[in-house]
Amino acid sequence: MSTLSPTTPRPAPEAQAAPAAQPAAPAKPAPQDHLDLVVVGHVDHGKSTLIGRLLFDTNSVEEGKAERIEAACKAEGMEFEYAFLLDALLEEQAQNITMDTTRVPFRTASRVFTIIDAPGHKEFLKNMITGAASADAAVLLVDALEGLREQSRRHCFLLSLLGLRQILVAVNKMDLVDYRREVFDGIRAELGEYLSRLGVEPAHFVPISAKLGEGLLRRSARMPWYTGPALLEALGGFRSSPPATGGPLRMVVQDVYRFDTRRIVAGLVESGSVSVGDPVEFVPGGKRSRVKSIETWPELAARAQGPVGAGSSVAVTLEDELFVERGQIGSDPGDKPVEGRIFTARVFWIHKTPLRIGELIPLRIGTQRAEARVIGIHRKLDAVTLEGGSGTGGEVNVHEVAEVRLRVRRAIAFDAAGRIPALGRFVLMRDRRIGGGGVIDALVEEQAGTSEGPAASRAAILGHRGCIVWMTGLSGAGKSTLAKGLEARLLGSGVLAMVLDGDVLRTGLSKNLGFTPDDRSENIRRATELAIHLAEAGVVVIAAFISPYRADRAMAAERAKERGVPYAEVYVNAPLSVCEGRDPKQLYKKAREGRIPNFTGVDAPYEAPLAPDIEVRTDREPAHEAIERLAKLAIDLSLPDDQSDSGANI
Ligand code: ADX
Repeated sequence: MSTLSPTTPRPAPEAQAAPAAQPAAPAKPAPQDHLDLVVVGHVDHGKSTLIGRLLFDTNSVEEGKAERIEAACKAEGMEFEYAFLLDALLEEQAQNITMDTTRVPFRTASRVFTIIDAPGHKEFLKNMITGAASADAAVLLVDALEGLREQSRRHCFLLSLLGLRQILVAVNKMDLVDYRREVFDGIRAELGEYLSRLGVEPAHFVPISAKLGEGLLRRSARMPWYTGPALLEALGGFRSSPPATGGPLRMVVQDVYRFDTRRIVAGLVESGSVSVGDPVEFVPGGKRSRVKSIETWPELAARAQGPVGAGSSVAVTLEDELFVERGQIGSDPGDKPVEGRIFTARVFWIHKTPLRIGELIPLRIGTQRAEARVIGIHRKLDAVTLEGGSGTGGEVNVHEVAEVRLRVRRAIAFDAAGRIPALGRFVLMRDRRIGGGGVIDALVEEQAGTSEGPAASRAAILGHRGCIVWMTGLSGAGKSTLAKGLEARLLGSGVLAMVLDGDVLRTGLSKNLGFTPDDRSENIRRATELAIHLAEAGVVVIAAFISPYRADRAMAAERAKERGVPYAEVYVNAPLSVCEGRDPKQLYKKAREGRIPNFTGVDAPYEAPLAPDIEVRTDREPAHEAIERLAKLAIDLSLPDDQSDSGANI
């Protein structure tokens, strides 16, 4: 039953009297009746119209605005749309620098709603990762005519990953399918099945027409077959979370201020509550004290005894002079968050540059900041089909979800496995923007012994251990090019890598050597020892030497093994004719002219590897592809023993 025509957007008397929305001076709802909402769905499925219509029907827009917009539309010969109301509101907010343009409020008699992540913003998934993380409930909008789209599924997936459990599915544009029940039932069945595979049970499926106002404030007479609540009624039934109290204290420290002689710790209570006299431990770090006073933010003067519950900002002073800093979590000493450096997590990746195994990436969890090393990518899932791919390829691509293992250098504090969702969610930053979002599933205990000894300490500082990638091949085969490319690729991922090149060594350490078999052997011996020292210091050494003799290479591998340094052999292969054709230094030419004796491939032998770990045919494979393969090999070698299995399928 539509009481409003889209072209005459004026509340009819019945709408004003509608029980779910009494716009005439609604009593100010108590603060706990505040519900933060995200509206998600495919870009064309009517989000702006729905929000505009809700604003209008609940009289949350300034009087006369709709009429003004309507008049403006008419003047331009355009049809009025409710989405314009939202646009106008957002535009106004944008003028006002104190206003968060991504938050749109509206209220009914019983509740204040805030729509976070208002649509119209670019990079919706990014906003959602941060926005949905703090929402109490979500409305997932599906177009009745179009049905489920990939984007709808991705949004559902993200909602479930972020732990949002209160979901309302609104099947919109029912007017375009003649309000037919079969259409609604079909979407409900399809989406219901998908959601149940995610372990999410939507609270309601509601058929609506946002444009015509059907099914929003009250059930639509055009759909008598639907017996559930109207959209706003259903939203009214959602609970505001987190509950005001309950659960152990988690106060995320945002700042510490000096205020006359006092030191004031300001933060956000994500769980539990704070009262004067409560014991509190700040993690990571583990310093304890008691709450001396509470200064409810922002009225610093208004002291209170508490309790100040979850969802509130709070400022406290402590009985002891502790050094507390942003990033710490004020916690219940009897029930603290987990502290650790290695954990498993599920990540939803939204950046076009894949998340790669071995890379070092900024992580933000609450107010904590850390550099995380991706030390394992275990399983990947397509968020649309929920199918797992075969093998992970060592990277997570845009819109993929993966189970990963991350390690940070300094311990962070968190609550795993959705125990306190806000304390287990994090984002990974790529180029200073959100690259992906995730939730921590579990802490991984560090193996006994890994924290002992200088080698382990170095590995802990760097986030990886050293190793040797030995490249052998003819002059001109492409060793130096690949080595430099690999070095850049690894450095780009935060791996300390360094090329050791024959040409360079021969200007210094091996200056006194020539190219007789004995001299080459000695050259390789020196290179090997140097590589081992560097690898022991934690460097991923990329050794590029012709190293034409199998026996010399076997010696290098053997020495590395003796010293416990991971080692792999790469055969950089191109036919002699190709190398000679390239002849970058004109050495083949000179050798053919007899001006360079013992030149490999001309009058000195090259013994090709029999079982290299990787062979690169540089005349066939593009360098960037080869470098990717080599990077995976190098990263796998540089993972500490207890994690090297995690990259095994790369
Ligand atoms: S290796 O045989 O001892 O491993 P290495 O990799 O250090 O050789 O040095 C090879 C480089 O030395 C070549 O890239 C080339 O520029 C230069 N060179 C000079 N003389 C010779 C030679 N007779 N044979 C091969 N390379 C030579």
